[in-house]
Amino acid sequence: MPILNRVAELQHEVSEWRRHLHTNPEILYDVEETAAFVEQKLREFGVDEIVTGIGRTGVVGVIRGQGSGRAIGLRADMDALPIQELSGKAWSSKTPGKMHACGHDGHTAMLLGAAKHLAETRNFRGSVIVIFQPAEEGGAGALAMVQDGLMERFGIEEVYGMHNMPGMPVGTFAIRKGGIMAAPDKFTITVKGRGGHAAEPHHTIDPIAIGAQIVGNLQLIASRNANPLRSVVVSVTRFQAGTTHNIIPEEAMLGGTVRSLDEAVRDLAENRIREVAKGVAAAHGADVIVDYERACPVTVNHPDETMHAARAAIDIVGGQNVDTEVDPSMAGEDFAFMLQARPGAYIMIGNGKTAGLHHPAYDFNDEAIAYGVSYWVRLAEQRLTE
Ligand code: NI
Repeated sequence: MPILNRVAELQHEVSEWRRHLHTNPEILYDVEETAAFVEQKLREFGVDEIVTGIGRTGVVGVIRGQGSGRAIGLRADMDALPIQELSGKAWSSKTPGKMHACGHDGHTAMLLGAAKHLAETRNFRGSVIVIFQPAEEGGAGALAMVQDGLMERFGIEEVYGMHNMPGMPVGTFAIRKGGIMAAPDKFTITVKGRGGHAAEPHHTIDPIAIGAQIVGNLQLIASRNANPLRSVVVSVTRFQAGTTHNIIPEEAMLGGTVRSLDEAVRDLAENRIREVAKGVAAAHGADVIVDYERACPVTVNHPDETMHAARAAIDIVGGQNVDTEVDPSMAGEDFAFMLQARPGAYIMIGNGKTAGLHHPAYDFNDEAIAYGVSYWVRLAEQRLTE
């Protein structure tokens, strides 16, 4: 594997960057130090053009090859999570309540490794655009960069993303065409009844009893309304009401999430939640307010680009180590916004037997670095030499 051998020399340096980023996590758009680190490294590598402040704190580097040609975008996310780290690693977060629990430290370091190698070798025509985005975790940083003109400004024609996956062996990749990550929506239902003495329920409109009926009826969306071949998750994760044992409260609040892999199913779930909540509340004389909040769209891999991504991965680790029909994940990913703007594909890379994503004991696996960097390099060289 020639690229793996070349990139293996970078492994140590890239893991040092990764651990530095891990020790210094920043969240949402407040990734100033991380962005400054990325900018400084891109400068050291001799990247041709560096633009900061795209999507507030995003950083973009342009690496020009030998001769003119197309431009492709490679994207990493930079933000951490509001979690207290319990990994016990020497490079643990030094900021209480913040940690890199999703491996974005690894994603940023691997894309920097690829940028260093591509800037040294320039074994391609056209341009590689390396994209470092803020606020992947619930801040729609990808959308902010797209709205700042990311695609037009750099002439990006295709865009690719990568995420580590605990449980998948190191040295493996997984991808699928079509929906690969879900649209993660949120809903809140407020049931407004009439409070009173718990010994005299006939004088009240009990929002707890009505809320319980709503929870039960919401289960029918996935089991009875949605086509069984098109997945949807409707989870009620909050139910808050009442203060003590002898008072029926005025209000109950329910909250939860909807996950779907298809925009039509997403619309169906939203409509049914509204209808079920209103219908059940009306049947029992209560009022209801439904607030449905759409986060990022379904992450949809485009067919041709999925094939290009799979081919690059196969070139690095062999066909037996690339699953091209992986099951989608019901987690969300804001790279979906970039895939709405340009054709592209999002691939998963094995992180080995580590704690799960968003777990306080999670840590990115540095053994995956050579594979991730090699994949980026191979993909860029392949797409810009044919
Ligand atoms: Ni993530």
